[in-house]
Amino acid sequence: MAFKIGNLTIENQIILAPMAGVSNSPFRILTRQYGAGLVFAEMVSDKGLLYENDKTKKLLYMTDIEKPMAQQIFGSDLITMVKAAKYIDEHSNCDIIDINMGCPVPKVAIKAQAGASLMKNPDLIYHIVNEIVKTVSKPVTVKIRSGWDHQSINAVDVAKRIEQAGASAITVHARTRSQGYGGHADLDVIKAVKQAVNIPVIGNGDVTDGPSAKHMLDYTGCDAVMIGRGALGNPWIFREIHQYLKDGTIIPRPTHQEIQEMMLKHLDSLVELKGEHVAVLEMRSHGPWYLKGIDHASELRKQLSTARTKEEFKVYVEAFFNAHP
Ligand SMILES: Cc1cc2nc3c(=O)[nH]c(=O)nc-3n(C[C@H](O)[C@H](O)[C@H](O)COP(=O)(O)O)c2cc1C
Repeated sequence: MAFKIGNLTIENQIILAPMAGVSNSPFRILTRQYGAGLVFAEMVSDKGLLYENDKTKKLLYMTDIEKPMAQQIFGSDLITMVKAAKYIDEHSNCDIIDINMGCPVPKVAIKAQAGASLMKNPDLIYHIVNEIVKTVSKPVTVKIRSGWDHQSINAVDVAKRIEQAGASAITVHARTRSQGYGGHADLDVIKAVKQAVNIPVIGNGDVTDGPSAKHMLDYTGCDAVMIGRGALGNPWIFREIHQYLKDGTIIPRPTHQEIQEMMLKHLDSLVELKGEHVAVLEMRSHGPWYLKGIDHASELRKQLSTARTKEEFKVYVEAFFNAHP
């Protein structure tokens, strides 16, 4: 089912989450091909963008086939956040500017007082969102957590402020900052946010297949679901959820042949974007994700963690799948 973010029509309700080190152009292309209705690029730092940091700017790379795409920024300083959003508005080909108010990692949430730390300061949230909305022409969205910790669950209040400030949609990752990625997402928080605001609400947390996606949509009434860890090594998840939402069918998991092909395709596209050295290092993480649930793959996992070249990576993968077709 389609829904709208600002004037932009999103063709379905299944969205790829922003994931640092993962949601880059090659991965976004794969997930769009398998049916993601919207893809989020990983977060970039406001200051990194403004200080002309090359590494940060490279993170903005995107192609037309990924669209619609949201570019996420993080920071905590009103002035630099607005300038960074303006920079993205003018220089990035993305369709939506998303603000990170959920990142729990100490470097972001403690040292920079950004990400989930903003949940402690709803007034600042209002000002950042409002100033950015007034400054840019693309729709602005915000990704929040349930709250800072279980004693301060304030997603509903924060969501209302975000709506008043003019945002076009809100994503709720229904965990507190202190939960990190542990425990369970609390669907009641997403439901309460959905009931409290009129802009679209994207539910996030623990969606790993068709049934969990449908349960989140039905239980909370949210407009769309966002998939993070369930997509790691698993771009097929979007087609599976799509099918399940359509007619309740659970389609078979990819074959070994498909997994092998996908691993090598992903490797090739990362090499093209980032060069062989960085691509192989990144594939050391993706490799084990693709192999999750595959029997007898522990030796291959070890081999991939030491692979230094594209050729080496390929040889290990092909040898394994030839022996385990
Ligand atoms: C490797 C990794 C990187 C992430 N990077 C970001 C990020 O850059 N920005 C963000 O808002 N959330 C980030 N997240 C959080 C996810 O977007 C998502 O909110 C979280 O994983 C919960 O969804 P899930 O249960 O479907 O994984 C990251 C998560 C993971 C696992």
